[in-house]
Amino acid sequence: MMNLSMEELLFLVHNYYDVIIVAVFSITITLCLSIAWRRVTRTENSYIPGRLGLPFIGETFSFFSATNSSKGCYDFVRLRRLRHGNWFKTRLLGKIHVFAPSTEGARTIFANDFVKFNKGYVKSMADAVGEKSLLCVPHESHKRIRRLLSDPFSMNSLSKFVKNFDKMLSERLKTLEKSGKSFSVLKFGMKITFDAMCNMLMSVTDESLLQQIEKDCTAVSDAMLSFPIMIPGTRYYRGLKARKRLMKTFTEMIGRRRKGVECPQDFLQKMLERESYPSDEKLSDQEILDNLLTLIIAGQTTTAAAMMWSVKYLDDNREVQDRLREEQLSMSKSKSDGASLTIEDVNSSMSYGLKVVKETLRMSNVLLWFPRVALNDCTIEGKKGWHVNIDATCIHYDPTLYKDPMQFNPSRFEEIQKPYSFIPFGSGARTCLGMNMAKVTILVFLHRLTSGYTWTVDDPDLRLEKKAHIPRLRSGCPITLKPWNS
Ligand code: HEM
Repeated sequence: MMNLSMEELLFLVHNYYDVIIVAVFSITITLCLSIAWRRVTRTENSYIPGRLGLPFIGETFSFFSATNSSKGCYDFVRLRRLRHGNWFKTRLLGKIHVFAPSTEGARTIFANDFVKFNKGYVKSMADAVGEKSLLCVPHESHKRIRRLLSDPFSMNSLSKFVKNFDKMLSERLKTLEKSGKSFSVLKFGMKITFDAMCNMLMSVTDESLLQQIEKDCTAVSDAMLSFPIMIPGTRYYRGLKARKRLMKTFTEMIGRRRKGVECPQDFLQKMLERESYPSDEKLSDQEILDNLLTLIIAGQTTTAAAMMWSVKYLDDNREVQDRLREEQLSMSKSKSDGASLTIEDVNSSMSYGLKVVKETLRMSNVLLWFPRVALNDCTIEGKKGWHVNIDATCIHYDPTLYKDPMQFNPSRFEEIQKPYSFIPFGSGARTCLGMNMAKVTILVFLHRLTSGYTWTVDDPDLRLEKKAHIPRLRSGCPITLKPWNS
């Protein structure tokens, strides 16, 4: 195209020498910079696909927009997975998050909790539940506090809990059936798990006190993931004020017990009876206070959401409901009329019921993912990251681990699960402390519901509650009970 003679070329070089030098220099600099930038971002991001967007802001607005929609915050993760593949990175509020969607990733993180990873430290969480909460303390205190908190979850305590919960549940369901009115399973579950836990932990049964504590616990729970700024009207402000009131109520309760005014046999009393023990065998007052609050908050919303989803799934899958009812009725027949359930009934005669509970937890993913911070540079399946989220939802919906994962099929639990493929309660040092309590609570609920009643779901709306980190139906799954007539 451009046929230049040697003379013309020399003429150009001679006349445009400075322009050519500047152009060659600029191209070289640009090339060097782009290679260096690629190297830096490669070592930092280790090839994980994803969009980091603008500094600090990243994809924060898209995340909040998903959280504020009726599809729920997991929609943010789902869309990115479709775009980038299962492993992806994003930037939220200035932090880079990597979502770890595999059993291998889960194993690496769970096995290295506290050593290479820690819980994503959120200031608002520590301010709300307290620095001595199991959710916030460092490794050494965590081991001791966890060991000392295990009493309410022992077989002995669970056995008492099952009897009390069964009695409370039977009475409330009967009243609701007699009223013939529709009620939200979610609200019902929230109230009954709360009342049962407060009774077990500190023997609170007075309705007005229960209502006050529940209101304040909800405000604290809402503040846990809020922006930590003390301005009246914000969730953080309301949560911290509620925490102050709760601490006062609990402290007064401890004071009355120390004076001997009251001494019911419950979890709090057992903790106080350790006062003369060596320091590694007891909890300080602040540890007791913060962890009473932690247990209530960690146990109530999770268990109530699972109860709600179990009703929804059983309504959608009538053959599963029929099989469950058959098992539960056959167990009832072996007991005398009006007898309470025992922990032995729950453990030995509800094998299909337990599979229903597991399948409910697999499909509902009450805790969608478990956040951790990498304490050092780390490599999981070749990926390096900063904030690493064990994506339990992705693992529970993985078709290579669960055939037809969107099908509610409790019988799949007849087969043994691959390690780290079923993690609704987490795993390792931070495994859910209330795991057995949650399972027996849902089993007792399913027993009374299916052996005593049939129900109709009164609102088929599938939209999820907005601004919630636990997936729950916006409607709360309202139902109307009818007595079961065999
Ligand atoms: C269906 C109900 C429940 C589900 C799905 C559930 C799930 C979980 C999960 C996944 C974790 C670990 C989170 C992580 O690794 O970051 C956890 C921790 C915890 N759960 Fe539960 N939970 C439930 C019920 C309960 C109940 C009833 C209680 C107590 C009354 C409870 C108390 C706790 C506590 C104290 C921790 C922190 C453990 C630690 O850090 O050592 N949970 N739960």
